[in-house]
Amino acid sequence: MKGVVLAGGKGSRLFPLTRVTNKHLLPVYDRPMIFYPIQTLVDAGIKDIIVVTGGQNSGDFLRLLSNGKDFDLHRIHYTYQEGEGGIADALRLAEPFVEGEKICVVLGDNLIENNIIEAKRAFEKQPKGAHILLKEVPDPERFGCPEISNGRILGIEEKSKSPKSKYAVTGIYFYDQSVFEKIGKTKPSWRNELEITDVNNMYLREGTLTYIDLEGWWTDAGTFDSLLRATNMVAESGANKIPGRGAPPRHGRDGE
Ligand code: DAU
Repeated sequence: MKGVVLAGGKGSRLFPLTRVTNKHLLPVYDRPMIFYPIQTLVDAGIKDIIVVTGGQNSGDFLRLLSNGKDFDLHRIHYTYQEGEGGIADALRLAEPFVEGEKICVVLGDNLIENNIIEAKRAFEKQPKGAHILLKEVPDPERFGCPEISNGRILGIEEKSKSPKSKYAVTGIYFYDQSVFEKIGKTKPSWRNELEITDVNNMYLREGTLTYIDLEGWWTDAGTFDSLLRATNMVAESGANKIPGRGAPPRHGRDGE
């Protein structure tokens, strides 16, 4: 399985912090934000990784990450997203790198406490489709939010004003190679982005979307409040102490 970290976009919710740098280069406690999603992949045994960058600071990623020696990697791949066309738009740039393998995608501003290796193993056994990680949150209207009935996801809405559950779809996604074909069928949303939620809903309609509840804390870091929360959670939990991130997540599948 290959890994994709998405670190493009404007980070406009963090202006003026992001006026002269990329959001994912900002500090979260004692290291740059981008370190955490890369470590999430490496901890799960995924060592063939591409970072999708963008904007005016893409060269800083090379200087910061080099060939990945901070993560005991021999090499990191990079690609560049022109503009800010959305998560699905950034992901499609990884297609030539992926070469038909399954992938784990982590959004560059997503931090977790635990190891996702069990989710990865589950997806390796899944013949096809996608696997997403859900987390109960106090503010589901900020995220992709699933409607769930009898353990089954009925649909996912992006930034719904009246969310149908208390869950967020976290920014950690497992996909088979059909993800790129599905991205090709998406259309720009009201925020003029290709939405990853539309891609997940395609898998859902196809009957190949599975999920688990992610254990341990999870947060994004793309707003002032969530950036502060991420910093505090890392500081309090010691999640920055590499390696070892506590117990693996509980595990289940859609419909079980
Ligand atoms: O954090 C989880 C949430 O992330 C999900 O629940 C949502 O379904 C998903 O749409 C996303 O929501 P956000 O509105 O918070 O996404 P944001 O625009 O902040 O982008 C998240 C990351 O994706 C960002 O840190 C870098 C990457 N990205 C984003 C855009 C718009 C790119 O690489 N390129 C882009 O053009």
